Amino acid sequence: MLIVRRPVRRLLVALLPLLALAAAACSDPMTTTDPQSDFADTVHGVYQIVTILAAIVFVAVLALTLILAIVFHERPGRRAQQFHGNSKLEVVWTIIPVAIVTVIAIPTFRAIADTTDPAPDDAITIAVTGHQWWFEFEYEGTGLVTANEIHIPAGRATSFLLRSDDVIHSFWVPQLAGKVDLIPGHENELWFTPHENAARPEPYLGQCAEFCGLSHANMRFRVYVDTPQNFSAWIEAQQASRIAPANEATAAGETLFLSSSCVGCHTVKGTAAAGSIGPDLSHIGSRSTIASGIMDNDRESLIRWISNPDREKPGVVLMPAFESQMTQEQIASIADYLLSLQ
Ligand code: CUA
Repeated sequence: MLIVRRPVRRLLVALLPLLALAAAACSDPMTTTDPQSDFADTVHGVYQIVTILAAIVFVAVLALTLILAIVFHERPGRRAQQFHGNSKLEVVWTIIPVAIVTVIAIPTFRAIADTTDPAPDDAITIAVTGHQWWFEFEYEGTGLVTANEIHIPAGRATSFLLRSDDVIHSFWVPQLAGKVDLIPGHENELWFTPHENAARPEPYLGQCAEFCGLSHANMRFRVYVDTPQNFSAWIEAQQASRIAPANEATAAGETLFLSSSCVGCHTVKGTAAAGSIGPDLSHIGSRSTIASGIMDNDRESLIRWISNPDREKPGVVLMPAFESQMTQEQIASIADYLLSLQ
């Protein structure tokens, strides 16, 4: 049996939570250590330099502290003493931090310059508007407006024009780009090119990264990086106007939806619903989540959401709780209709 001394055992136990944390960080889909775009590569480069330097400083300071404590501790025949002032030491420990900060500053300034260059001419442009608490995305020149889930092509630049409708939000997709703030009355731009091999069926997860009120943590979004062919197909499908109800049930849901107050806030292209306060629902059935990424987009979640949005996402006051105005059957009928809008 392996015999481990008690102090070592205690140290191992103390380190366990740290190891667990490190393991969790490695498997986190919102990691900055697995960059999938030119922007994220640049950020990762600086991150690596800072991490390595910080590790060297940590080890050096810890080692010096231990060595000095052991070598100079008080023992029979020698008294411990305090010393004041040592010009040589002062100079050394001023020069070392200045050198470290300089080594960090050079790649940092270079990264800032690289990531704020103007976007290439052939970049796709998406206007992003932050709302409490969801993201609105408008593909310029296509008439395509969507919410909380976007598709972009691999290997081609996409430029995001960042705006806000209310308070400061922030755009952050750790594996792709950010964070850059969405500021009321001011437009920021952020652009990046996902790697050619970044296309995959699973989304890259994004999150509002600036505290913006009660449901800040519930303000998420998803970026799907597609092959150029899949991206074109998606754009085409999303540009389609009204999707005619396929059966009586969804036809009834549509009638109910169009005769309710839903139309005052939401748009469904090709119908009388043309509101612009809430997310565009023209193709909501094709999204994987609702409520800015906090609930799966299925019948049960839609019913829960329409019944009482504030219960699902605290602070949602613009959308009323329809459970006080409609029966559960009526709400379910609207949910079926929305799911049919593929
Ligand atoms: Cu929007 Cu935090």
